Amino acid sequence: MKNVLVIYYTQSGQLLEIAQNIVKKLEVSNEVSVVYHQIKPSKSYNFPWKKDNFFDAFPESFLQIPCQLEEPEGDILNKKYNLVILAYQVWYLTPSIPINSFLKSAQARTVLKNTPVITVIGCRNMWIMAQEKVKTLLLENQAELVANIALVDRNINHISVITISKWMFSGKKERYLGIFPKPGVSQKDIDESVKFGAPILNSLLKNDYAKLQNKLLELDAIRIKPFLVLVDKRANILFGKWANLIIKKGKAGDPKRRKWIKAFNNYLLFAIWLIAPIVFIVFLITYLPLIGKVKRERNYYRSVNLK
Ligand SMILES: Cc1cc2nc3c(=O)[nH]c(=O)nc-3n(C[C@H](O)[C@H](O)[C@H](O)COP(=O)(O)O)c2cc1C
Repeated sequence: MKNVLVIYYTQSGQLLEIAQNIVKKLEVSNEVSVVYHQIKPSKSYNFPWKKDNFFDAFPESFLQIPCQLEEPEGDILNKKYNLVILAYQVWYLTPSIPINSFLKSAQARTVLKNTPVITVIGCRNMWIMAQEKVKTLLLENQAELVANIALVDRNINHISVITISKWMFSGKKERYLGIFPKPGVSQKDIDESVKFGAPILNSLLKNDYAKLQNKLLELDAIRIKPFLVLVDKRANILFGKWANLIIKKGKAGDPKRRKWIKAFNNYLLFAIWLIAPIVFIVFLITYLPLIGKVKRERNYYRSVNLK
C-alpha cells in the first residue's frame, strides 16, 4: 500500500478542487491510500477579503514571515508518506502566508524529510518566483521535489487583474458585469486536471519519478509566458523595497502603517496600468536578441531543478 498525503490551503475552494481532481485516479486505486491535511492559520484570513486586509497582507507575505497555525488533528503529520502533494496559491509573488508558515514549521520538517513532493499551484498567473521560494523551503526540509503542475487564469494579464480583484473582494467566482470572463483557473482546466493522475500513479507505484515532470509537461502541466517571467522578476525587486519599508511602520492593522499600505496600493495600480505596458514594449523590442536566454529560462522554470 502506498500512502499519499495532500497538504493544502484554500480560501475559495479552488485549490482543493484542483488537488482532488489530480488525485482522483490515485483514490480509486486499491494500492493507494490518500489522506488530506488542510493548513489552518490560528487567526484565519477572511474570505472574501476586505480591501484593507488584502493589501495589509503584503509585507508579511512577501517577507515570508510565518503566522501561527492550528495544531493538526491526530498524528497525520507525524507519519511518513510515499508521496506528498502540496497544493498552494501565490500571494504577492510568494507562497501564501499559510503555506509559507507550514513550510517553515517543525511539522513540515518531519513529514517532508526524504519524501517525494509534487507541488500544485493554482493562482492568477504569476507563480515563477514563488515556486523558486518553495523549492528553497523544500530543500531546507530535505524534501525531494519531483514534479510541479501550475494552473493559472489563461486570460490576458490585465483582464485577470480586474476579474480576480472582483472575485477576491466579493467571494463570487462569476463574470464581472456579465462581460468579463470568469476569474481564476477555468472550470475546464480544473475538471481536466484529472488527467495528471495517471502518470503520477504510475510513478508512485514504481517509486520512480525520473520521467514524471516530462510526462506532466506533455499533458500541458506548465505554460511559461516569458513576459510574465520578466515582470515577476522585476516586481520581486521592487516588492522587496516596499515590504522592507512598510514592515518598519508597525504590525498589520497599525494606523501608522496604514498610510504606507495605501501608498503601496496606489503604486501597484500605477505599476500594473502604466509601467507594465511600457515593460511589454521593451520586452517585444528585446525579444529577438534575447531569444536564447528566454528559451533557457523557459526550460528551467518548467523543470523541478533549483539553480
Ligand atoms: C493577497 C493575495 C495576493 C495574491 N497575489 C497573487 C500573485 O502574486 N500572483 C498570482 O498569480 N496570484 C495571486 N493571487 C491569487 C491566488 O494565488 C489564488 O489564485 C486565489 O487567491 C484563489 O486561491 P484559493 O484556492 O485560496 O481560493 C493572490 C491572492 C491573494 C488573496
